[in-house]
Amino acid sequence: MTLLEGKKYNIITFGCQMNEHDSETISGMLREKGCIEVPTKEESDITIINTCSIRENADKRFFGTLGQLKKLKKKNPDYVACVCGCMMQQEHVTDAIKKKYPWVDIIFGTHNIDRFPALLENVYSEKQKVLEILDDREDIVEGLPSKRLYRHKAFVNIMYGCNNFCTYCIVPYTRGREKSRRPEDIADEVRRLVADDVKEVTLLGQNVNSYSGVRADGSSCDFADLIYILNDIEGLERIRFMTSHPKDLSDKLIQAYVDCNKLCNYIHLPVQAGSSRVLKRMNRKYSREQYLELVRKLREAVPEITISTDIIVGFPGETEEDFEETLSLVKEVHYDSAFTFLYSVRKGTPAAEYEDQIPEDIKHERFNRLVDIINEGSAAKNAQYVGRVEKVLVEGLSKKNENTLTGRTEGFKLVDFPGDKSLIGTMVDVEITEGKTFSLAGRIR
Ligand code: 5AD
Ligand code: SF4
Repeated sequence: MTLLEGKKYNIITFGCQMNEHDSETISGMLREKGCIEVPTKEESDITIINTCSIRENADKRFFGTLGQLKKLKKKNPDYVACVCGCMMQQEHVTDAIKKKYPWVDIIFGTHNIDRFPALLENVYSEKQKVLEILDDREDIVEGLPSKRLYRHKAFVNIMYGCNNFCTYCIVPYTRGREKSRRPEDIADEVRRLVADDVKEVTLLGQNVNSYSGVRADGSSCDFADLIYILNDIEGLERIRFMTSHPKDLSDKLIQAYVDCNKLCNYIHLPVQAGSSRVLKRMNRKYSREQYLELVRKLREAVPEITISTDIIVGFPGETEEDFEETLSLVKEVHYDSAFTFLYSVRKGTPAAEYEDQIPEDIKHERFNRLVDIINEGSAAKNAQYVGRVEKVLVEGLSKKNENTLTGRTEGFKLVDFPGDKSLIGTMVDVEITEGKTFSLAGRIR
């Protein structure tokens, strides 16, 4: 019997898939210790908030949620409040927590989540608060358990950290330098997942294209090599990855799309801006023309490929002409979907110091114009799917309707269709009957 046996926990996760996957690991470790996951923080003995620092609204939402834990703490003297994730890698944040939220019990960072159960046991046995943050670390901890969010699809980290230092981005400061896992460790993990009913894996890294693994025999393994290795795993149906950096996307990877039947014909390829001048100031290391050439090559090799992107509006110094170049690039590429963000000042990044910050009203006005064009484009793309038959991995029941199933096409489009829940986890052929702005509807063939 451990100190943690029977304790109820609830994890609140902000941010990207990387954070969601870290929460799966935290959950897996707590389950191994005999803890029980509960659906709300109000029912829990232990609440963990896994934070994101990518934009200012993530910070605000975190402090709002953190404030709510105080009354749980008051009600239950044994209640433990924990905070972790990207925000904790910034000293001004941990200082603020210590000052304004002194009742928080555990603060830990992105590099030592493996230590969390030990920290928690310590809090129970010693009744003392802990703060444990590492600036970075060289090694990778293998073999941590994971409690998956989805039964049939799984996230698999292939690398950690980022070396790119885009001038707007906080990630290199919160996630440290790039480190790649060994290909054998990744393949073993995927095999174990497949044996546990997983059909689809999403390989995670800030820039998977710069994956640089070392095999047990000492030879090197790049990202395309890794795809070929995973493609041979029996029982695995689909491979996806997040996120690609255009500067490192190789011809070899484009060829892997052609050769590897399990690699989904889909790519998330953040462009960030359509003006080469802005891209240079963002330190993205490619021009508008190079990006467009990459898209051309991808579509030439894989005509069916669907493409999504990330775009930042209102980066310091962005002129109306620069912004119009973003609009024209969006029209030229004709994305399947795009995530759009208002530029958000991140303390400690170079762009935070740029003097030519864009006023909020101009940012919003540009943002709205961009979103209109993107939504129009997505609706037009989705309308083209009507009448096509798509292979869909059935992921679960639709939240809105119990008799409706939901899943994704190979191109990552969400599809709703009537069907029985016994089909969850299988691949079905779905004829598309309707294309909406953000999803498709269909019927099983
Ligand atoms: N402001 C706005 N958007 C940002 N992103 C990263 N940093 C910032 C920032 N400071 C966006 C980028 C990235 C996505 C995950 O978040 O578009 O691709
Ligand atoms: Fe941030 Fe750029 Fe690294 Fe992506 S590649 S995590 S945008 S610094």
